Amino acid sequence: MPVKVLFFGDTIGKSGRAALLKELPAIRERYQPDFVIVNVENITHGKGVSSKAIHELDQLDIDVYTSGNHAFDKGQFSAEAFKDIPNLIRPSNYGSVLPGKGFVRVEKNGKSLLAINLNAQVFFEKQFPTEISSPFMEFDTIWKAEHQNKEAVFIDFHSEATSEKRAMGFYTDGRASLVCGTHTHVATADLQILPNGTGYISDVGMTGALNSILGVPVQNSLDLFLGNTSKLVFEVEEQNPIMINAVYAEIEDGKAVAVEKIYREVSI
Ligand SMILES: [Fe+2]
Ligand SMILES: [Fe+2]
Repeated sequence: MPVKVLFFGDTIGKSGRAALLKELPAIRERYQPDFVIVNVENITHGKGVSSKAIHELDQLDIDVYTSGNHAFDKGQFSAEAFKDIPNLIRPSNYGSVLPGKGFVRVEKNGKSLLAINLNAQVFFEKQFPTEISSPFMEFDTIWKAEHQNKEAVFIDFHSEATSEKRAMGFYTDGRASLVCGTHTHVATADLQILPNGTGYISDVGMTGALNSILGVPVQNSLDLFLGNTSKLVFEVEEQNPIMINAVYAEIEDGKAVAVEKIYREVSI
């Protein structure tokens, strides 16, 4: 029996949460996944994790929450979330200074999944207060220490550059079962199974307002690019429709055997 995984990319604020609450049960019904994973780095007003926002999703029975560079934007509330929610992970290569852990193993239906969160280095040099070590070496370390024979292995690779994303895909090809890029909020069209059996996409895309720029109101972002302001006025666009982006994969003996992109638009 394959291990069936459903992964939703960056989910943005209240509108993202509402979209998942409305549509995820139907997607679950359609795909019957063993494990559901959601990236929640933007779950609290678009920036950061918090127990309150994540607990709003409790009824969806999500198995693993991943995150990224915005994970700690809510300060103490974010730190508490990592203590409070056992299956919430953050990129493993942020080091041990920050709260939380970078991977988790979940077991259900007699099946096992090792979920790993990694952050890229390219374009993150000045964006984060802690040093980000090599995600490639970090994967090797986790793989050596944790991997069990033919176990399904999922990586959320939080990353900007498509070159580094694809490098991670090929580097882990045959070891990871599914590598999904997150962070850009824009879905890419390169979902494939790599030669040695790793399902791969450069970016899953976000769950957030369709008519926005990465989840931010269009005018706010335009004001920045047109020089009307020197600093982005950060808000979350909440106008309908809200798009949902996800990837579904079936994994047998640790190798992806089927992958599918999922896209929905909902009104909340
Ligand atoms: Fe994000
Ligand atoms: Fe991010």
